[in-house]
Amino acid sequence: MDRRHFVRTSAAGMAAAAAPSTLSADPGVSDTEPAGAPAVHVRRARPLCVADVSSIRYRNGGPESAIERAFRGITEGEDVLDAIVAGVNIPELDPEERGIGYGGLPNADGVVQLDSCLMHGPRRWAGGVAGIEGVRTPSRVAKAVAELTDHHLIVGEGAREFARSLGFEIEDDLNTPASRALWLEWKRRVDPGHWLDPEERRSGQSRRGEETDPDARRRYQEAALAAGLSMVEDGLIDPDSFWGTTSLEAVNADGDICGVTTTSGLSWKIPGRAGDSPILGAGQYVDNDVGAAGSTGRGEANLFNCASFLIVEFMRQGMSPKDAGMAALGRIRDNTVEPRLLNERGLPSFDVRFFVLNKAGEYAGVAMYGSSESSFAVCDENGAREEPLEGLLEGPPRG
Ligand code: GLY
Repeated sequence: MDRRHFVRTSAAGMAAAAAPSTLSADPGVSDTEPAGAPAVHVRRARPLCVADVSSIRYRNGGPESAIERAFRGITEGEDVLDAIVAGVNIPELDPEERGIGYGGLPNADGVVQLDSCLMHGPRRWAGGVAGIEGVRTPSRVAKAVAELTDHHLIVGEGAREFARSLGFEIEDDLNTPASRALWLEWKRRVDPGHWLDPEERRSGQSRRGEETDPDARRRYQEAALAAGLSMVEDGLIDPDSFWGTTSLEAVNADGDICGVTTTSGLSWKIPGRAGDSPILGAGQYVDNDVGAAGSTGRGEANLFNCASFLIVEFMRQGMSPKDAGMAALGRIRDNTVEPRLLNERGLPSFDVRFFVLNKAGEYAGVAMYGSSESSFAVCDENGAREEPLEGLLEGPPRG
């Protein structure tokens, strides 16, 4: 859609978004343009939401989880993107949720930096923000990027100023006392002898002013990851929160498909690091003719393999959501060759999860490693529930 067309149609589109669409009988035809009367509601799909478990486990003290809020919206005629963003705002705002939004685990300097992207299938809109600070709901800023600009991705300080200009509240610190305490514990574990302060790490000098060797930065990163994972093993961090992220995909009865992914990213990341969650095709992809895929887990694996895009393309070629997700996981496994990313069995030492649906309302939740304890969230006419993730590989990622 060009800018002029966007300006011409956005006001009408916003008004139309509040009401159920009238429909064309042709499943390939967008129904966002106003259709003539009489309005005949033809059910083309089975309304459905799939998501990461944080979309069902957190309510921020309210009556609904993210997936319940989203499903209610899509079945009451709300625009699908409006409904899913309103949904993920619930865990974004929940101080108890450690993987996204307010109270998400911060970066190595103790600063909460948030990523999000989203796609609106029928309108072919997309927007994202990366490394935004000070805004509790990055998904809403990503939505503003999609709705109000000609851009698809705004990062860092620019994203924060964009949000400020739109009237978003900007806060100095999105840590909660609990997320800050966990960061301090990580600092203690990663560098018990002498905490490296941000300035020392940037300059490559140790606290005593000595030059560090060329591999020092990599060794530091490995120690940083190990310290974080030890906190997961000690039960201080929920394993579902370490790589953060929730992703929520939905299709309504009209067959309109949208998806949103939002995260505080990898815990204790290098400041400025962006993972897959703000990147179209990696942490999220939607094609309104085919389906949607969203992801949580090791973002670098999704970035390398454009995995969400790949899943949607596999479905376009005729694969089911489950087969498409498994094929993408196989690609990630095959492309993981660096020893530092392999476990003792020579397999990836990390998890990646995909939440996948197609236009017909079929769905899957798949993971590199499935277990009896790992699940994803589904909401359909039978209500909201957790279902087991199907794993490509067996056993724990590490060991
Ligand atoms: N998947 C979230 C991240 O890696 O940042």
